[in-house]
Amino acid sequence: MSRTKVVDALRSTDFGKEMTVKGWVRSHRSSKAVDFIALNDGSTIKNIQIVVDPSTVDEELLKSITTGACIRATGKLVESQGKGQTCEIQASELELYGGCPSDYPMQKKGQSFEYMRQYAHLRLRTNTFGAVFRIRHNMAIAIHKYFHDHGFYYFNTPLITASDAEGAGSMFQVTTLDLDRVAKSGKVEYDKDFFGRKTNLTVSGQLEGELGATALGAIYTFGPTFRAENSNTPRHLAEFWMIEPEVAFIDKDELMDLEEDFIKYCVKWALDNCKDDLEFLNKMIDKTLIATLESVIKEDFVRLPYTEGIRILEQAVKDGHKFEFPVTGWGMDLSSEHERYLVEQHFKRPVIMTDYPSEIKAFYMKKNADGKTMQGTDVLFPRIGEIIGGSVREENYQKLLDEIEARGMDENNYKWYLDTRKFGSCPHAGFGLGFERLILFVTGMQNIRDVIPFPRTPKNAEF
Ligand code: 4AD
Ligand code: MG
Repeated sequence: MSRTKVVDALRSTDFGKEMTVKGWVRSHRSSKAVDFIALNDGSTIKNIQIVVDPSTVDEELLKSITTGACIRATGKLVESQGKGQTCEIQASELELYGGCPSDYPMQKKGQSFEYMRQYAHLRLRTNTFGAVFRIRHNMAIAIHKYFHDHGFYYFNTPLITASDAEGAGSMFQVTTLDLDRVAKSGKVEYDKDFFGRKTNLTVSGQLEGELGATALGAIYTFGPTFRAENSNTPRHLAEFWMIEPEVAFIDKDELMDLEEDFIKYCVKWALDNCKDDLEFLNKMIDKTLIATLESVIKEDFVRLPYTEGIRILEQAVKDGHKFEFPVTGWGMDLSSEHERYLVEQHFKRPVIMTDYPSEIKAFYMKKNADGKTMQGTDVLFPRIGEIIGGSVREENYQKLLDEIEARGMDENNYKWYLDTRKFGSCPHAGFGLGFERLILFVTGMQNIRDVIPFPRTPKNAEF
């Protein structure tokens, strides 16, 4: 008999019909007269209850159906007497696919997330991670749908590159050179390397994304991104996924409208499409989760110039607020603590911070007439801090070249990029959304390592 997914079985009202379900045992309670098996197959957070008359089943088989075991159950779908479920299956046949010995690391309920991270290959079978990764999937669908419906083309940018888009220098080098031999000879012959030059994993697809936008009008990337910064925080990964839309002919205000509309669409998508999983996470992880998601889509984001933001932080210090990282005044880079103060305590809604000092931002951002600030538009979110980094791009060839030189970057690596300004340059803008930061926000999870299946962080590349 063909398999029915648990999600479909639970929705069915075909009482009396024979069905086969397959999945992993969440719990097994036995008594003399009846056994109850809670079965989950990943199609929903909910389990289906399998009711077994122990006198009809081989004793050894029944004993082997322990937490974590994988089984098939066939039987009649009946209306449930128990509260909290509509239907259950009265098993007439059970089959064991894979038993699960008692040293199964996910056996106990209520293990810490830190503990479960050691078993990233098995934690997927728990309720929380099932919910998180179903939501992650749904957010990816929402992102593609949003951009497709708005006339953006999905554009794939290279993972191996010779340029450093962000100029931050925290890159993973890609090489086929034998490092032991390099160490012995004392010199690196990059012309002998695979690409004949020094290459690294991309820190952003933006520069190539701009090539797409200045030809196709509007594109977005959605792919892996690598940063070798030694940041051991709950918001940083060495390998994460970034979504980078880039649009020709939009200005700063239109860019902010896009950022706000896009992120609200994603959050609303979660509320509309991930109800059961969100309710579970709201109960188990963060009791304010759904209320927070609902409030974000209702409220207008604050649009706050950096200079004004610094003034608010300085006032907070005067009023006695204690920050772990000092507020050193205009020119400082904000830490997530400062960002969260503005969002959570001062404005109590998301903030788009604009017009940062040029020095603390990347080379490609368009400067304002004051020569000091640039047209950046970062979105700051409750519980997260920076979730989006964006800006209008410098479209003037000479100004861009001057900036590249002033920063001591190798102009030769950016010739193709500069060509977009040399030939038919156009005003354009774009942003990057950290996918995992969005998932953190939408799931209420606390640590970014728990919203990507197999996290990569300093000293950690298992699985
Ligand atoms: O602010 P960032 O560095 O901006 C860029 O890379 C631009 N090229 C984007 C663009 O304009 N096209 O990164 C963008 C976002 C951040 O706001 C954050 O959400 C996420 O990427 N991010 C990280 N997420 C997880 N781990 C890290 N190490 C991250 N670094 C950035
Ligand atoms: Mg940034």
